Amino acid sequence: MAIDPKGRVKPGYARHMFVCGHERPEGATRPSCSKRGSLSLMAAIKRAAKEAGLEDVRVQKSGCLDFCEFGTTAVVYPEGIWYTLEGEESVAAMIGHLKNGTVSAKHQMKFATEHE
Ligand code: FES
Repeated sequence: MAIDPKGRVKPGYARHMFVCGHERPEGATRPSCSKRGSLSLMAAIKRAAKEAGLEDVRVQKSGCLDFCEFGTTAVVYPEGIWYTLEGEESVAAMIGHLKNGTVSAKHQMKFATEHE
């Protein structure tokens, strides 16, 4: 059996955040999160999580999460809360969620359909 080099005794994280880093070519019919600055926001969230001493969380780049029109798209598990990241203010809000599960209603993805 493998031994974890970080000393963990089970797989997984208290919270796991995926930030869309997908990029589409110019002229694509759908927008892409990386063109909205998702990767620099993700880097800022990772840095802030480290500074806050959050060891049992993981923030990582994902491929397209398929809610491109609502981006910059991110999701935090296990709560399954979807966010639209925007600016430095959203970094602090995400740290609040990663730290203690506090959902940032302000940054939650606002989702409407044509069928409403
Ligand atoms: S490009 Fe980010 S959700 Fe699709």
